[in-house]
Amino acid sequence: MIGTDIEQAAALLRAGELVAIPTETVYGLAGNALNEATVTRIFEVKNRPYFDPLIVHVPNLERLEALSRSFPPLARRLAEAFMPGPLTLLLPRTDAIPDLVTAGLPLAAFRVPEHPVAQALLAQLDFPLAAPSANPFGYISPTTAQHVAQQLGEKIPYILDGGACTVGLESTIIGFEDDAVVVYRKGGLAVEAIEAVAGPMRLRPHSSSNPAAPGMLKSHYAPGAPLVLGELNELTQQYSAAHTGILAFRQGVPGIPAERQVVLSPAGDMAEAARRLFAALRHLDGLGLEIILAELVPEEGLGRAVNDRLRRAAARLSAD
Ligand code: TXA
Ligand code: MG
Repeated sequence: MIGTDIEQAAALLRAGELVAIPTETVYGLAGNALNEATVTRIFEVKNRPYFDPLIVHVPNLERLEALSRSFPPLARRLAEAFMPGPLTLLLPRTDAIPDLVTAGLPLAAFRVPEHPVAQALLAQLDFPLAAPSANPFGYISPTTAQHVAQQLGEKIPYILDGGACTVGLESTIIGFEDDAVVVYRKGGLAVEAIEAVAGPMRLRPHSSSNPAAPGMLKSHYAPGAPLVLGELNELTQQYSAAHTGILAFRQGVPGIPAERQVVLSPAGDMAEAARRLFAALRHLDGLGLEIILAELVPEEGLGRAVNDRLRRAAARLSAD
């Protein structure tokens, strides 16, 4: 059931149930992070492997500190600059957080969401919320309550509706190694913004063989229809015989009906493109296309995370 009743959501969560919640990045499938039976249920509902750890959501830095064993000065600077917001920090965890949440890793991923509904909900709870994105494992993350309902509606008692997500990409995940910042997942906070506070940093490429970020599988954001990346006019010629859809940044292509084309931002506004990306992929995926033709966006700011998701969506084709 979809609704806007924060009290009801809180009551269900206190009873150990799962509730889908809005955040500014994407919707999360939330449950009491300290309750092992609840956390197990999160993995089951998502069909997610247990080696892929979950992000722990807290209302503020005080609660984050209470659950982390140490909080290095650099982490604190970044937390003060960007939390609440689309940033997740990997920090040593206390024993309060069950092994199940972190797949046994000594670090936990912590996030303070900024969305007012998530804030109001977390403020009412005396436990943190474990919440992966509220989609079946390997599918596109949901950016509206309706997206969640389409795939998980039968499996969870309540979807708390907070409207369409304003960032639209998952949080940027960073960790710390020998006093340097390491980016584990590009996301809704631009790398440039983090560098302005923390100085130059390392990028850790995502892969399924990376034990520190085991869940970041290459094909993670794949829609059902294969997605091919390239120059749109060339691709349109190459695939002229197929029933294709177009995912463009600023401008569509001639010769393909408008209803099979999505233009992410005619004005070239990267925040708008990021916000609309996942809904666009879902829309195209629902059209029964043979193939989705897409182009990369400029590799700067949020564009880096948009391109990361597009490359992962495209990787499915070469993977199967
Ligand atoms: O914006 C977001 O981050 C959303 C909202 C709901 O908060 N959540 C989200 O969660 O995207 P999820 O589970 O779909 O992606 C979290 C990623 C996973 O790929 C996981 O491998 C990584 O974070 N992760 C979580 N805990 C970790 C840990 N202790 N060490 C390394 N990676 C971790
Ligand atoms: Mg996810």
